[in-house]
Amino acid sequence: MKAWVAPRYGPPGVLRLEERPEPRPGAGQLLVRVRAIGLNFADCAARLGVYPRVPKPPFVPGMEVSGEVAALGEGVSGPPVGTAVAAVPIFGGHAELVAVDARFVRPLAAGMGFATGAALAVTGITADHALVTVGRLRPGERVAITAAAGGVGTIAVQMAVAAGGQVLAVASTPAKRELAVGLGAHEAVSYEAYPRAVAAGVDLVVDAVGGSLFRPGWRALRPDGRYVLYGFAAALGAGRVRYLHAALELLRMGIAMPFSLVERTRTLAGFNLSLVPHLAGELQARFGRIEAMVAAGALRPIVGATFPFARLPEAHALLQGRGSTGKVVVEL
Ligand SMILES: NC(=O)c1ccc[n+]([C@@H]2O[C@H](COP(=O)([O-])OP(=O)(O)OC[C@H]3O[C@@H](n4cnc5c(N)ncnc54)[C@H](OP(=O)(O)O)[C@@H]3O)[C@@H](O)[C@H]2O)c1
Repeated sequence: MKAWVAPRYGPPGVLRLEERPEPRPGAGQLLVRVRAIGLNFADCAARLGVYPRVPKPPFVPGMEVSGEVAALGEGVSGPPVGTAVAAVPIFGGHAELVAVDARFVRPLAAGMGFATGAALAVTGITADHALVTVGRLRPGERVAITAAAGGVGTIAVQMAVAAGGQVLAVASTPAKRELAVGLGAHEAVSYEAYPRAVAAGVDLVVDAVGGSLFRPGWRALRPDGRYVLYGFAAALGAGRVRYLHAALELLRMGIAMPFSLVERTRTLAGFNLSLVPHLAGELQARFGRIEAMVAAGALRPIVGATFPFARLPEAHALLQGRGSTGKVVVEL
């Protein structure tokens, strides 16, 4: 099979298309013939060698795919061969075939195409976890969402609006802010305008950027406010990890004193869903709710760009270089 391999950690240009042996599904795994790859910012971080538990090079990145079940490993009873599925292998998905833990495979809802199927699992579950499970968003609350025009962001904006939140979207360009408003955001501001916009008070901040963006939102939390940090995009440059810049951005986040949580009745929470596989069963049920929202027309997966498999490194460059909106999908 063909696979995109990172022979070393580095910028998008390190990726090489190679012939690799076909993987065999192990116990508890399914083999998926990949039809579409949903690109995640985590794939860029993995390629750069800064994602948790990233394999040593050479390795095949690829967190999320859709495709058809090609074989069942020992102890796996379904879905049957040929079923269209979405799957989250975490690594290995930039390939024609990938073996995936069966707990992270789900049949695609009726009528859902492969591109949409590759665009919804990670974004939907992450947005749901940030807004609902950890963020406890209630109707009428003001919620700030950073990187609001991105893969997770476009889903989070729609979910927050559907839950009755007053959404303050933060994005870097006018076109991205327009997209967020088109999805229902009540306000959309640049990163430069954000400190002023949020200062009026906010109940929930859902932030995947971090760095110098953290303190304005943290300070603006109203009593019982929640700050949910689930990424650190501020650390990355267009090609490489800017370690000095990342260190400065970390310092700019400052220190949260535990007693200040009590004094101000506020919550600081963080998560990385790839590190909590014990949530797998719960995630399946949640994904069912997300699919139901899509079927009811309450949620629209946004695929901002598609690339053929042969041009996968360009898709990486677009995402890491901040050029994308919604989800970037690579089709096979
Ligand atoms: N913890 C978890 O379980 C989990 C799961 C999924 C995703 N995530 C995180 O959620 C975020 C969104 O993921 P995604 O795959 O949907 O990506 P994405 O939002 O489509 O793309 C990343 C966006 O981050 C913003 N950004 C801000 N500073 C940046 C910088 N220095 N370099 C590049 N981008 C920057 C850009 O939007 P603007 O141009 O508008 O700033 C960019 O479009 C990522 O930080 C990712 O790591 C976390």
